[in-house]
Amino acid sequence: MAKSKAAVVTAVAVAVVVWSLSAIVVESGIGVNWGTISLHKLSPSTVVDLLRGNRIHKVKIFDADPEVLGALMGTGFEVMIGIPNEMLAALSSSTDASDLWVRHNVSTYMVKGGVNIRYVAVGNEPFLSSYSGQFQSYVIPALMNLQQSLAKANLAGFTKLVVPCNADAYEASLPSQGAFRPELAQIMTQLVSFLNSNGSPFVVNIYPFLSLYGNSDFPQDYAFFEGTNHAVTDGANVYYNAFDGNYDTLVAALNKMGYGQMPIVIGEVGWPTDGAVSANLTAARAFTQGLIYHVLSNKGTPLRPGNPPMDIYLFSLLDEGAKSILPGNFERHWGIFSFDGQAKYPLNLGLGNGLLKNAKDVQYLPSRWCVAKSSNDLSGVVNHIRIACSAADCTTLNYGGSCNGIGTKGNISYAFNSYYQLQKQDSQSCDFDGLGMITSLDPSVGDCRFLVGITGSNSSSSTLCRRWFIAWLLILLGVWIFVM
Ligand SMILES: *[C@@H]1O[C@H](CO)[C@@H](O)[C@H](O)[C@H]1NC(C)=O
Ligand SMILES: *[C@@H]1O[C@H](CO)[C@@H](O)[C@H](O)[C@H]1NC(C)=O
Ligand SMILES: *[C@@H]1O[C@H](CO)[C@@H](O)[C@H](O)[C@H]1NC(C)=O
Ligand SMILES: *[C@@H]1O[C@H](CO)[C@@H](O)[C@H](O)[C@H]1NC(C)=O
Repeated sequence: MAKSKAAVVTAVAVAVVVWSLSAIVVESGIGVNWGTISLHKLSPSTVVDLLRGNRIHKVKIFDADPEVLGALMGTGFEVMIGIPNEMLAALSSSTDASDLWVRHNVSTYMVKGGVNIRYVAVGNEPFLSSYSGQFQSYVIPALMNLQQSLAKANLAGFTKLVVPCNADAYEASLPSQGAFRPELAQIMTQLVSFLNSNGSPFVVNIYPFLSLYGNSDFPQDYAFFEGTNHAVTDGANVYYNAFDGNYDTLVAALNKMGYGQMPIVIGEVGWPTDGAVSANLTAARAFTQGLIYHVLSNKGTPLRPGNPPMDIYLFSLLDEGAKSILPGNFERHWGIFSFDGQAKYPLNLGLGNGLLKNAKDVQYLPSRWCVAKSSNDLSGVVNHIRIACSAADCTTLNYGGSCNGIGTKGNISYAFNSYYQLQKQDSQSCDFDGLGMITSLDPSVGDCRFLVGITGSNSSSSTLCRRWFIAWLLILLGVWIFVM
């Protein structure tokens, strides 16, 4: 009798532990980049609930924002935090600086119920060609200092340093010819040897969209995963999509340095939905869904058959309306969710959760918009539009955007409304010298959405609490059975 009771108790206890942990344990290699250069910011706790609701348990952020890290506390998510390039010089110059950085931004959170910081990204694409080498010399010294600081804090075995590189760090006409850019040869030798001795992966950002956008000769179907009339033959290997070709170019470059087995993580990959002709919902869905199924099929690539990237972080979770549009108008439209946490297109992340789920409990401002009055005298409007659109985001109005083609008055209204929402619907912000008026009729047309701002929202991490509560009840039940 006692024996079977003990067995029951053990079974219950094991089941409870496994089940309660299953909420936390990472299930797959699909993660997201969570950037916060936003005009209408969801509260970090709403974003964390959005992640949880979609079973996304791997998150990459670009700094160590205390608000974001605060919201990630207790989630168990695997987090990669970033160090901006501008901080590398200081961190390369002294271990006092790196000690302080680690203490403030890592150690503080690596406590029970804290944040599971698995990676620290040292710089973000610091070798990008367009930076003309300005950060290059700081990377290895910063890496060495930070590694020392992590070791001092007893974290070096757990939190790994990585350096996310843009795919422009290597080049080749065919994947098998892949090699790092000649001027990076020495740094890459040091970097890869460091990563290898530390058990860190090589992190690379791969963007077939940018290849297509920047090159009118690029065969469109090669950017996607649905088969191509432009397959690339490389000796015995054939490439059917740009992602695999690019990935294997890196594998070949690593091979040449003697690190052909080094694990690779895709730090950023994605497709924007607006702001350019090829940036649209259909293309973004085809690319992202194709990529996820491709990676999860475990087929791998010709140079790494059966061995896909260890993790991929989609770029990006949310649209960021305050990003620089230097790269192009699409830069503010990379999200799989719009700024307010609404899924832009049906997408299965392969995390066993069906299609994307929207953010819950988002608090919008009232359903009100600011539009242009039907007045003939529009003198002075150009200046208003310029000012409105330099503060707010009007990128969808341009060629290739979802609001291009809504006419002169539509253009004016769109600019007015974007500004008005940015000002939290302050009625004076819709004046524009008497040219603007407030309406409760949604002026959106077709795919062109006139937004309503958000107030920020409050929500709690109630799901996890509920799970633990039920776990405790079951444990108590087990004890009760045992005592009986
Ligand atoms: C990280 O730590 C450094 C050094 O203490 C500090 O200056 C910085 O503001 C911290 N936060 C972020 C987001 O980097
Ligand atoms: C969407 O982008 C794809 C990929 O570049 C392009 O072929 C297609 O024409 C675009 N669709 C629209 C409606 O512009
Ligand atoms: C609306 O604005 C966009 C962006 O400035 C411009 O390309 C387009 O020609 C404008 N349309 C009209 C009808 O003025
Ligand atoms: C969020 O919560 C705070 C404090 O509980 C409250 O002051 C604030 O009004 C709430 N905001 C919203 C949008 O509900």
